[in-house]
Amino acid sequence: MNIPKRIKFANLPTKIEKLERLSNELEKNIYIKRDDQTGTEISGNKIRKLEFAVKEAVDNDCDYLITCGGIQSNHARATAAVAAKLGMGGYLVLRGTEDNKVEGNYFLERMLGANIQFVTPDEYKNNRTKIMNDIKAQLEKEGHKGYIIPEGASNGIGSIGYYKAMEEILEQEKEMGIKFDAIVVTVGSGGTYSGLYYGNQIKNNSATIYGFNVTADKEHFQKVIEGLLQEIPIYTNKEISANRDNIDIIDGYVGLGYALSKPEEINFLHSFAKLEGIILDPVYTGKAMFGLVKEIKKGRFDKHKNILFIHTGGLFGWNSDQKGLFEKVYLE
Ligand SMILES: Cc1ncc(COP(=O)(O)O)c(C=O)c1O
Repeated sequence: MNIPKRIKFANLPTKIEKLERLSNELEKNIYIKRDDQTGTEISGNKIRKLEFAVKEAVDNDCDYLITCGGIQSNHARATAAVAAKLGMGGYLVLRGTEDNKVEGNYFLERMLGANIQFVTPDEYKNNRTKIMNDIKAQLEKEGHKGYIIPEGASNGIGSIGYYKAMEEILEQEKEMGIKFDAIVVTVGSGGTYSGLYYGNQIKNNSATIYGFNVTADKEHFQKVIEGLLQEIPIYTNKEISANRDNIDIIDGYVGLGYALSKPEEINFLHSFAKLEGIILDPVYTGKAMFGLVKEIKKGRFDKHKNILFIHTGGLFGWNSDQKGLFEKVYLE
C-alpha cells in the first residue's frame, strides 16, 4: 500500500479525553478526540486533509490554492492560512455577498489576505467547479499556477488525512488500554468519514463508524462517501469493498438547515460546555453531539461500550446570529 507524503501543519497526535460527567449521566464511556486542537488558524479536521492536498500542490509547482465554501467555511479559512504560511496566494469562492458581516472565519480570511469571489447559492450549487476553473485559467494568464481543492478538501487525497487519523486512534487505543467500538463524526462534505471508514477496513478494525449529517440527507452522503472510498485507492493502490448500505449515517439532526440553529440546540451546547468545559461549534460538532446524546437515550448505541466522538473544530463558526440566540436562551 502506498501512502502519499504530506506537509506537516497539524499538532498531532491530538489528545483523547473522557467526558466524565456525560458518561456518568448516560451510563456509557464517552471519549472525545480533540481535533479542534490541531492548531489555531489552521485548526480542526480540515488541516489533516490539507496536509496531503497541499503537498500535491507544492510538488506540482503551484503558487495559488483555490477552494470554495460557505461564508463561514472552516475549510476556506484553513486554506487561506496555509496559503499565507507557505507564501502562496489563496483564492476563495464563497457563497455570500459583500454585505456579509466581517466576522468569524470570513474575518480571518480577510486578515490572512485571501482573494475572495462571492457567488449566489445557485451559482455555488451548480457552477462552483467551473468558477474555480475559470479563476485557475485567469491566474495562468497572469503567469501563476493554481491548484484547486474541492469543498472541504473532500476528495481521494484529502481523505487520506483521516486514514492517518485512524492509525493515530489505534495507537492511542494501545497506549490507553481501551478499544473504541463506535467512532462518531460530523458529516459535512464526507472526507472525514471516508478516511476513517477506509482506515477502519484496511486495519481490520471492528469499530462502527457513525456520521451525523449536518446538511442534505443520509442517501446523499452514502452515495458521496461510496464515491470517495473509490477515489482513495487511486492514491494508495489498495481497494476496499465499499457498499453504500454499510455506511452508517444517522439522519435527523440537520434541524433548521445548514448553519442554522434552534434555541434547543444552543441550549444543549450551553449545558454541554458547563458540564465538560468544552465548547462545540453550532454548525457541525454541536449538531452531532446533540444527536449522539439523543440517540444514546433512544438506545441506538446500546451495543456499544466505548464511544469516541471526534471534535472536528469549527469554533470560529459561531456567528452573531447564533450568539444572539444564545443571549436569548441564556437570559430566559
Ligand atoms: C468543524 C467541522 N467539523 C466537521 C466537518 C465535516 O467534515 P467533512 O467535510 O469532512 O464531512 C466540517 C466541514 O465540513 C467542519 O468544518
